[in-house]
Amino acid sequence: MKAELIRLAKKYGTPLLIIDHDKIRANYRTFKKNLPRVQAYYAVKANSNQAIIETLFNEGASFDVASYNEFMQVYEYLKHFKPKEKVFFIWDKIIFSNTIKDSDTLKKIKKYRPLVTFDNTEEIKKIKENCPTAGLVLRLKVPDIGSQVEMASKFGAEPGEAADLIKQAFDLGLAVEGLSFHVGSQCVNFDNYTAALQITEQILSDNREKGYNLKIVDIGGGFPAAYDSQVPEFRKLAGIINSECDRLFDKGIEIIAEPGRFMVGTAATLVSEIIGKARRDGKIFYHINDGVYHTFSGVVYDHWIPNFHSFSRGPKEICAVVGPTCDSFDKISLAEHLPGNLKIGDYLYTENIGAYSTASSTKFNGFDGARILHINK
Ligand SMILES: Cc1ncc(COP(=O)(O)O)c(C=O)c1O
Repeated sequence: MKAELIRLAKKYGTPLLIIDHDKIRANYRTFKKNLPRVQAYYAVKANSNQAIIETLFNEGASFDVASYNEFMQVYEYLKHFKPKEKVFFIWDKIIFSNTIKDSDTLKKIKKYRPLVTFDNTEEIKKIKENCPTAGLVLRLKVPDIGSQVEMASKFGAEPGEAADLIKQAFDLGLAVEGLSFHVGSQCVNFDNYTAALQITEQILSDNREKGYNLKIVDIGGGFPAAYDSQVPEFRKLAGIINSECDRLFDKGIEIIAEPGRFMVGTAATLVSEIIGKARRDGKIFYHINDGVYHTFSGVVYDHWIPNFHSFSRGPKEICAVVGPTCDSFDKISLAEHLPGNLKIGDYLYTENIGAYSTASSTKFNGFDGARILHINK
């Protein structure tokens, strides 16, 4: 494995992001095997690389998009289907899980009859005016305690507002098809899912009594990637979700999910190169050719904890690893346990860097960011 990383880095240059499609397929299959009742709508935002979408489409995934551009990236694989060929709830719908969509986007997607989420009155009016063909999914605010990235401060209707919002939408002639939530990304506190499912069931049954039969429960993303041995097992979470869903929802309810990180987080490795070395206040600073404005953007936006490994051995000490830009903010880590004898030109590698990495990379300071190499495609 290490020899192969070095070979690829020498052949293609660094920084090099190696995306392993066998791993993406394995993650997808693990998800499906453990959650047989749940249709996975891959959250394209985690990594929108076209080859990843293609691999997941070939595996049978559906898709969750955040923008018109992501929508069209997915639609590429669906456009040849005749309406009858679109398997129900797999490719007949793409879900826009972004609760706020601009009017232009809504106008453009009207002809595709997508699913769209909402969590407020203004959005209902906007959907009515610009995309009345959509199926609506009400996003609920649920606990996201202990998740790496919280969601509740920006998204979701309070459960107490749900009945009113659903009625408003129906009164305007729109079709509310279901409820959704997101327990926060990299959710390791499985009680968040249990609580969210319970809240969802309560709202479904209240609405049923009022004559509104919602059919979709969208359990969002948050499924934790196995970054290290501290992360609780996905199998355990799946067991909880399966038994809660069977307890709470009859078979007529379609359960869908929007996993992003789980599918791609562990599927990529980055090889970077040391381009400078200095001692600052007594600590070794390894300056490498990738940083927080580029593939390590997740350190900022995703609260991601980076990892660095060297290919050679030597006495280890606490070192800083920093990016190539002129900005002093571009520090990836101030405490990496690395050999102190690494030299300029040596490579480092970082595992599990497939989600929210290149997705939010910029061209800051004129650096292109990592070259992407697909293996096992
Ligand atoms: C609405 C929505 N769905 C799904 C996801 C994917 O979440 P995750 O990568 O935690 O699975 C996100 C991530 O931000 C999101 O905002």
